[in-house]
Amino acid sequence: MCGIVGYAGEQTSKDVLDVLLDGLSGLEYRGYDSAGVAVANSSLDVYKREGDLSTLEESLPEQPPNGFAGIGHTRWSTHGPPSDANAHPHTDCDDRIAVAHNGIIDNDQELRDALEADGHVFESETDTEVIPHLVESAIDQGADVETAFRRAIDRLEGSYAVIAVRSGSEALYAARHHSPLIIGIDGDDYYLASDVSAFLGYTEDVIYLEDGQFATVRPAGVEVTDERGALVETSVETVDWDPEDAGKSGYDHYMLKEIHEQPHALRECLRGRPQGLENAVLLEAVADVTEPKRVHFVACGTSYHASLYGARLVRERGIPATAFLASEYDSDVIPIDGDTLVVGVTQSGETADTMSALRDANGAGGTTLTVTNVVGSSAARESDHVMYIRAGPEIGVAATKTFASQQIALAMLSSALTDDCSQEFVDALRALPDQVQSVLDDSRARAIAGEYVDSDAYFFIGRGYCAPVAREGALKMKEITYKHAEGFPAGELKHGPLALVTDRTPVFAVVNRESNPEKMIGNVKEVESRGAPVIAVTDTPEAVRNHADHVLGVPDTHWRFTPVLANVQLQLASYWVANRLGRSIDKPRNLAKSVTVE
Ligand code: F6R
Repeated sequence: MCGIVGYAGEQTSKDVLDVLLDGLSGLEYRGYDSAGVAVANSSLDVYKREGDLSTLEESLPEQPPNGFAGIGHTRWSTHGPPSDANAHPHTDCDDRIAVAHNGIIDNDQELRDALEADGHVFESETDTEVIPHLVESAIDQGADVETAFRRAIDRLEGSYAVIAVRSGSEALYAARHHSPLIIGIDGDDYYLASDVSAFLGYTEDVIYLEDGQFATVRPAGVEVTDERGALVETSVETVDWDPEDAGKSGYDHYMLKEIHEQPHALRECLRGRPQGLENAVLLEAVADVTEPKRVHFVACGTSYHASLYGARLVRERGIPATAFLASEYDSDVIPIDGDTLVVGVTQSGETADTMSALRDANGAGGTTLTVTNVVGSSAARESDHVMYIRAGPEIGVAATKTFASQQIALAMLSSALTDDCSQEFVDALRALPDQVQSVLDDSRARAIAGEYVDSDAYFFIGRGYCAPVAREGALKMKEITYKHAEGFPAGELKHGPLALVTDRTPVFAVVNRESNPEKMIGNVKEVESRGAPVIAVTDTPEAVRNHADHVLGVPDTHWRFTPVLANVQLQLASYWVANRLGRSIDKPRNLAKSVTVE
């Protein structure tokens, strides 16, 4: 996820570049693929590089000039791959205005076309670059820089936290909409950042900007205004954080932080894709893919579970679809031809098994599509088509928010591939971020997990659309607790696993009112009668209450999306068992975030 920092201070007090680099190192934990700074003095010095901060630092001149004010950015690519040119800050044609931006501008293409028609020359593939050119264009029409900044922001659609600086000026101009921006105050020194970890070493006094607000920050003071330009009264708050914890935003583990980031991740994944009015899902990735005769999903681990879910969705809409473990995919035994769409699902885009399956499919003449979180990753580069899930960086080894985003990305893909979409489906998709938030707010998983920390093993069962999340629940539990856990379609219980069920093996049963609830309750009774504690994760509590020791409820949704919500409860249950056991949750033993060996 991108990070922003800005500094405007008394010129004698600090070296602007030092403060910006410090700020960027405080933002590193968010994950990034390039970094840059712009320092305003009589001109504008911009330094930016693909790679980490040390690469940027090595590229700096030996004695860079000090300045009046500056901005910095760590970039996590969304529009255009990681490169020096795509790194922020971005500038206008005359290098007078520099801008750093977090978020996504939905109408960037339209703005870029208009600006290019007016003679503006772009140097990057980013959506952000339209902003300095819009500011430039307003200045050229006679506006002062503050008005020009406001006019530029008014033309943006999407989400943004933006900071701009101008050559020869000691002021920073900032605005936010659906992306955080915070002002730090230390006497006559002012900081701006997307999160406080960028300036916690300097001050704990902050003003939180609200959506729709603008701020002009100078060493002489801060002025915050609303959308119409009226002054807003702000209050200074004190941040009660140990800088050590800031990277995790106060959470004990990245995993818990990332579980809580899911509403935001889902909003990003959905942005601009479901079209309510037309009852359609617009996916650039498949705009020129003709409806395939069959779809193969290839993936590993958690991404395979998302693929099982995706394959079911595609099948249900009439195209034969199968999810394969990437390590088992082999064109010698699995027929692939030009009518086969092979979808590689991989959050990292680097998993060796998935890469090998995609290369195999490419070689055999299939059409390949990668669904990934990482722009410019190997899978993205080597596939015919790519769809980004936009979950932001995931640092915990156990995949959480990327799984949630994969699920809804594949739901949208199934719809776009088949042109099969209802108003109900679109509405339900759009409601998911808020519903995930309500699961997070009301979950009792922590208390329930506490009762089963000493169990011998954990079982996870579900049917239909809920079977893949049962597998995923078990994978999460075993990865981070180091305890035995198994997940499978509930009908399989009596064909073997039931032999292991005792009063020391809690069973998590995902019960969806549309996926054969009667049969599911039959399965619940099977384990209940063997003394196993039952934790029902369900949208239909009344139906299971009599047979379950605990119920973890999820809100009503389109029945295809119940597993997206149920999974959040399962993630929390695993997290809290592992937490009570004192496990190394973010880096479980023997596991790596990106598995680049076959
Ligand atoms: C589990 C987990 C792994 C990955 C698997 C594939 O929490 O993260 O099972 O899902 O290694 O990784 P990607 O999605 O990067 O291909």
